[in-house]
Amino acid sequence: MTSSLPAGSRISGPRLAAFLGSWRRPDGRGAAVDLAAALRVLFLDGRLPVGTRLPAERELAEALGVSRTMITSAMDALREAGMVASRRGAGSWITVPGKEPDRTGWSLHPPSEIIDMAHASPFAPPELAAAVDRARLRLPELLNSHGYQSFGLPEPRELIARRYTERGLPTTPDQVMITNGSQHALTLALRLHVGPGQRVLVDNPTYPTAVDGIRAAHALPVAVALDPDGWDLDSVEATLRQAAPRLAYFVVDFQNPTGLRMSAPDRERLAHALRRSRTLTLVDETLVELDLEGDPLDGPPPLSAFAEDWVIAAGSASKAYWGGLRMGWLRAPAELVHRLGESRPSMDLGSPVFEQLVLAELLAEGDDVLAPRRREFARRRELLVDLLAQHCPEWTVKRPSGGLNLWCDLGKPLSTQLAMAVGRHGVQAVPGSRFAAHGGLEQWMRLPYTLPDDQLTEAVLRIGAAWRGLADPAPPGHGIA
Ligand SMILES: Cc1ncc(COP(=O)(O)O)c(C=O)c1O
Repeated sequence: MTSSLPAGSRISGPRLAAFLGSWRRPDGRGAAVDLAAALRVLFLDGRLPVGTRLPAERELAEALGVSRTMITSAMDALREAGMVASRRGAGSWITVPGKEPDRTGWSLHPPSEIIDMAHASPFAPPELAAAVDRARLRLPELLNSHGYQSFGLPEPRELIARRYTERGLPTTPDQVMITNGSQHALTLALRLHVGPGQRVLVDNPTYPTAVDGIRAAHALPVAVALDPDGWDLDSVEATLRQAAPRLAYFVVDFQNPTGLRMSAPDRERLAHALRRSRTLTLVDETLVELDLEGDPLDGPPPLSAFAEDWVIAAGSASKAYWGGLRMGWLRAPAELVHRLGESRPSMDLGSPVFEQLVLAELLAEGDDVLAPRRREFARRRELLVDLLAQHCPEWTVKRPSGGLNLWCDLGKPLSTQLAMAVGRHGVQAVPGSRFAAHGGLEQWMRLPYTLPDDQLTEAVLRIGAAWRGLADPAPPGHGIA
């Protein structure tokens, strides 16, 4: 296939090999098919953007330690599917995928018969419809204005400020800005503060769309590995000193994907390091209200409480309520909020007023909406743990104290293969490597407990079947922790 030459960057053979991880079945069967499928996963989940130029077949064969014929046959399959284009003398590059539904890769919109275990994003609570009705009755109050609100409506800003104050961080409405989700808050912070080529410290693993955002800003993610039980603050401090990142990004409450929560003493120590190194930090609090063990108000104080001048906290209605609202907020020193608001109009002219009214209605209901939601996700977490103990007994699964997903240790680096295999069983799932800033983490799989019981049960049944069908499943021996 030929098409116009892409403007994207070129990926080297060794780097592509690192991204691919352990794509190959141990017995070496079906290698070309598996390589094509593994490359499709990388293309579809966005780690290799459209336009990326691929290494020459000879270079890739060398990097992967396979024959050139095998690479040619995998590339032929991808060309056939419309995912790779080539031109003599110009090489090959990634193109927009074909229209066939993909059963092995990752897609934002899976066909409805596929069970979506790729998104840890819950359905809306039943109270949302009533909140919409109440908001509709209040909308006329606002119709005699132009409706552009760079900082957001006063009422949700007031309610969010009150919640921070309750959590131990005295906050006034001028320290709050309404955004279109927390990803938007990160994008605003990147635009204001981080230039091309500058470094951004992230955890490894971390929320991948944040890393996508950092890369889209032409900044460089610098990853610090998380320990199994928490943050390695010695390494964070060393990286702050040595890499001098322009921004740091942390999820300290029910970290996605590990579910870890940073203790109050660790927050104090991290904040001290941030102040000392003068590193502006975006702390992503998207999951903070989903404490499945207790009242979120009994949790550790927000990171901002320890380093007010250096932290932008980004919150979201997406997990506590619904992603479709596209409502979030940021909390920072008033002067910084002002600068972020001033910089906003070139990107968007404010958040939708109607959705802000809906958000205000939901926030005003407080625990009447959130407490039953927390109980429900705690119940589904137990269901998923039990189902995995039954169908994937070799895995080690720690129960997180909050958030919406399990981070499963498969015991062997088979995550990409498993994601491809479950695709063939009609389940969309994301391999651990998607959460790795620079590839790897093939031993891990993130599984959300957001779906209703019947879908969750069917999904795990299929995942178990796919797991047993892999050529060399992990030996038994690990239990559910
Ligand atoms: C840690 C984290 N941050 C941000 C987001 C996206 O949030 P929003 O929908 O508010 O942009 C998610 C969604 O999965 C998430 O898990």
